[in-house]
Amino acid sequence: MPAFQIMSGSSPIPTAVRVFAPTAATSAHAHVRSMADYHALAARALAQPDAFWAEQAGRLSWSRTWDKVSAWDFNQVDIKWYLGGKLNACHNCVDRHVADGHGATTALIWEGNDPAETRRLTYAQLHEQVQRAANALKALGVRKGDRVCIYMQMIPELAVAVLACARLGAVHSVVFGAFSADSLVTRINDSGCKVIITQDTGVRGPKQDIAMKANADLAAPKTPSVEKILVVRRTGSSVTMQAGRDSWWHEALAAADAECAPEVMDAEDPLFILYTSGSTGKPKGALHTTGGYLTYAAFTFHYVFDYKPGDVYWCTADVGWVTGHSYLIYGPMANRATVVMFEGVPNYPDYGRFWQVIAKHKVNLFYTAPTALRALMKEGDTWPAQHDLSSLRLLGSVGEPIKEPEWLWYHNVIGKARCPIVDTWWQTETGGIMISPLPGATPIKPGSATLPLFGIQPQVVDEQGTVLEGNDVRGCLVLAASWPGQMRTVYGDHPRFVDTYFKRFPGKYFTGDGCWRDPDGYYWITGRVDDIIIVSGHNIGTAEVEGAIGQHPAVAEAAVVAFPHDIKGNAIYAFVTLKTGQAASDEVRKGINLKVRDILGPHAAPEKIQFAEGLPKTRSGKIMRRILRKIAEGHVEDLGDISTLADPTVVESLVSGRQ
Ligand code: WT7
Repeated sequence: MPAFQIMSGSSPIPTAVRVFAPTAATSAHAHVRSMADYHALAARALAQPDAFWAEQAGRLSWSRTWDKVSAWDFNQVDIKWYLGGKLNACHNCVDRHVADGHGATTALIWEGNDPAETRRLTYAQLHEQVQRAANALKALGVRKGDRVCIYMQMIPELAVAVLACARLGAVHSVVFGAFSADSLVTRINDSGCKVIITQDTGVRGPKQDIAMKANADLAAPKTPSVEKILVVRRTGSSVTMQAGRDSWWHEALAAADAECAPEVMDAEDPLFILYTSGSTGKPKGALHTTGGYLTYAAFTFHYVFDYKPGDVYWCTADVGWVTGHSYLIYGPMANRATVVMFEGVPNYPDYGRFWQVIAKHKVNLFYTAPTALRALMKEGDTWPAQHDLSSLRLLGSVGEPIKEPEWLWYHNVIGKARCPIVDTWWQTETGGIMISPLPGATPIKPGSATLPLFGIQPQVVDEQGTVLEGNDVRGCLVLAASWPGQMRTVYGDHPRFVDTYFKRFPGKYFTGDGCWRDPDGYYWITGRVDDIIIVSGHNIGTAEVEGAIGQHPAVAEAAVVAFPHDIKGNAIYAFVTLKTGQAASDEVRKGINLKVRDILGPHAAPEKIQFAEGLPKTRSGKIMRRILRKIAEGHVEDLGDISTLADPTVVESLVSGRQ
């Protein structure tokens, strides 16, 4: 565990916090209509957690009711929910809706990379597809408990593949479609996958024929556990098929029986493994189980997105990340939602693509990431102005703090000041949303994820682990009690699970995030606690400095790291991208410096500011500060692995532009 300091002093909040109360129109029809209702439900969940979580599990259909709601111990690090309960996740997301007479409801609206391509699947059609796919997997030897690697782009068959695994009780491990063959090898070997499901090639924006099957072919000789490869034909490009090992999805499904009974699973049987990066180089396989995870995904989707039958919901996240698991497949489908799945990118064929899709499918609920918003905001308001966004009722954000400029843009330009914005804080490890406004109840402060959901017990602790009571406290964010969606272990490495999350603050789950609970009890995530910089003895959160820089009108995005300084110990190095049409100059540099001094004080002013064309980001949009730190420190000959960057070429220009 790297040493870290907890921030103190300067505030991460915007200069003047404005509060946006829910509109009467939103509250009138919401699942939770007032703060009084929120507090009443939250109090009940605290007083009688097992009764509360039993009620939430009632959102699902169980073939056997649990004997005991929960049994968890953060000292022994043993977490179980709905002990003895039996269910099947695919049955809950598909079959029961058809059985209840909703087979004709649209489950999936697929929007292709090319705007002319759309496909729709009803719940009845999805039901048939998952049964055939499950039988096809069975024919390849897949049985309950086996691991299956899914390496695909955002096509409907990806959702079918996930649900088909769940139907069989096979543990899926989705590997994001843009990962390299090497990343695929590491992940497959860690979990010993028996089968890979992939596609011929992929398309993404202007990029055609992205290698998918070819990467699986490169991986296969290095992954001894892999016996079969099942290949979806997406583009029709020619790929090599190895006799005896490889088969086509469409042929296998056509040959398969259309009926396949879902496997009865124990609540604590694994549902999936999803790899997430850690502080070491080796990714951690977060293991989620069936009953608790699905209950939590269904519960959070219902309340946070305030879903009503008939709503069209769009989550832009890839199924390769946890957001795609919980809020594109499991949460929405357990609620019988109509979900938009998008294969493309926000800037293809032009910067109006997101807004065009919203208008085309009359999207009511839209969930995306601040990084996408910043990229689109940078291009100006004329793109959204060309599309009818009047169907929107709610906007969501996830992945990092949404800072004031993009919050206001999202609110005003996209939501026309009508739509609540739910800033949802959670993690791969938590399985679902933990801290978020409830759209009909919570007064929103831009930049704050606001308040915990019912039954969630965040605490702020100082470096010694002392719980900081009361409000206006800063420290590390921990969770004092388990919740059903919590990951159960790191696959194959329980000691790593214990070390990473339960060692630093014994008896608590450590999130790795710093936070400020403001005078009103609102939570502000100030960034990872290892993203803190000590300058002349002052503790400064990188997120705070970035937020301050972002308030300069010319700035599109900023990332801040530390570099060694003779007198101050550390100083701040800022990498800044400017909005389109803004030229880099010493004047802008001075302006940025002044802005930070104004907002946070002189101790937080960056020592160096480098203007950059782009920042090094992972494909999920996270800035890789590790690389920026090396550049700032001048260790450019040793940048480490840059293969997981969305665009590794940005690194060269960053190196050459070093200040
Ligand atoms: C980390 C988890 C949750 C799915 C996508 C990312 C940061 C996430 C927020 C938010 C501030 C946020 C935290 C968290 N984060 N959402 N709304 N406000 N920070 O999942 O890759 O597991 O990352 O993302 O630092 O710990 P992940």
